Formats: sequence, structure tokens, C-alpha cells
Amino acid sequence: MKKNITFTMIKPDAMENGYAGDILSIFLKSGFRVSAMKLVHLTISQAQTFYGIHSDKSFFEELVIFMTRSPIIVAVLEKNNAVEDFRKLIGSTNPDHAKEGTIRKLYATSMGENAVHGSDSEINAQIESSFFFAGNEIF
Ligand code: CMP
Repeated sequence: MKKNITFTMIKPDAMENGYAGDILSIFLKSGFRVSAMKLVHLTISQAQTFYGIHSDKSFFEELVIFMTRSPIIVAVLEKNNAVEDFRKLIGSTNPDHAKEGTIRKLYATSMGENAVHGSDSEINAQIESSFFFAGNEIF
């Protein structure tokens, strides 16, 4: 049976501000199981490829510079209804619009520096997970 997973990153702003432990704790307390996790420092090329869908956006260069600024935590999380439940948990992309209690409301700095990533669909969860992890590294 295919696992119900989502993919997340704890982004440079949250790492630099010392929020990684608190954010991981919220993932676990909210019922997500860690299937794979590692610390990585993205290269410019990796960030450009990962965010290729946004390459025509005005904020693309800013996004690549931000995501390569510091090491980040990348992880695959498992739970029933993982993608949707995780998007609810992290809140809106813009922290000013994020609901109270969501991770971005609690920890994000701005629209660009928004603390965490969460896949927006099941297919993207698979694609994004396989960008960082081989099949035998997801447990
Ligand atoms: P995320 O949804 O995880 O993936 C795309 C990222 O692009 C998003 O988080 C933000 O970090 C960034 N982003 C989206 N919109 C903007 C924007 N208007 N200005 C700057 N960065 C943005």
C-alpha cells in the first residue's frame, strides 16, 4: 500500500532563529510520523531546480538566495490525509494571513521567509520527497 505522505522543509529563517526543535515537536504532536529526515545546505543549482515552477516569478532570485543561505531540515512525514492536514497545520504562505496557532503564524518572518514548506498535492509530495531521498531512505 502506498503511504500517505507529505514533504516538508524547515527553512533558513526558522533554522537561524532556533525554532527547528519547537517546529519538529509540533509535527509529532499533531500526529505526523517522520519517515525520513536530514540536514542539508542547498546549492544554488538545487534550489533553482527544486523551485523551477517559480522560475518566471519576480521573487525567484530572492527565493533561491534565501533557501541557500543556511542549512535546512528536509523531511518526509506520514499521516492519514497528510498533504491537507499539514497545509492546515502550517497556515497560509503569507504569515499575516495565517490563522492563529499555525506554524507560520507562530514562527514565520514574512511571505518569502515563511519558516516551513509543505507540499501542495500528493503528486508533488512524491516528487519533492524523491528530490532529496531515495526510495530505500524513506521508512
Ligand atoms: P512555499 O509555498 O513553501 O514555496 C514557494 C515559496 O516561494 C513560498 O513558500 C515562499 O517562500 C516564496 N514566495 C511565494 N510568494 C512570494 C512572494 N510574493 N514574495 C516572495 N517570496 C514568495
